[in-house]
Amino acid sequence: MKVILASDHGGVNLRQEVAEELNNLNIQVEDIGCNCEGSVDYPDYAIPAAERVANGEFDKAILICGTGIGMSISANKVKGIRAALVHDLFTAKATREHNNSNVLCMGERVIGPGLAREIAKTWVSTDYEGGRHENRVGKIAEYENK
Ligand code: RB5
Repeated sequence: MKVILASDHGGVNLRQEVAEELNNLNIQVEDIGCNCEGSVDYPDYAIPAAERVANGEFDKAILICGTGIGMSISANKVKGIRAALVHDLFTAKATREHNNSNVLCMGERVIGPGLAREIAKTWVSTDYEGGRHENRVGKIAEYENK
């Protein structure tokens, strides 16, 4: 599995924690920053990362900002992206099983590093269930392709 990882200035610390967790799991990770002193704009990281998932270069992306909200709104503008804003283990698992989410967003100002690491681990290791969910996820793609 190949995962692309990004954050704005509000998510730098959590991004480093998640990178370490993914490395422990032997997952191939490309970290695209930010390597920032000051403020940056989250769409400048979310959109390029999401595009590289949508074009097949990466299987998944993990995007972190202060709340995770800006990253999720931005990533979901990219066709083919199903970005989930997750701050608990139940939805980390459910969004993979039910929504086949290909982008995980979290907020550094919302949760601590221990939970973020567990969420990332759960999310990357949970498979999509397909079945009854296929029709629902398919309707999103159908709308995108109109
Ligand atoms: C940056 O201050 C903050 O707005 C950003 O990290 C994020 O929380 C936006 O959704």
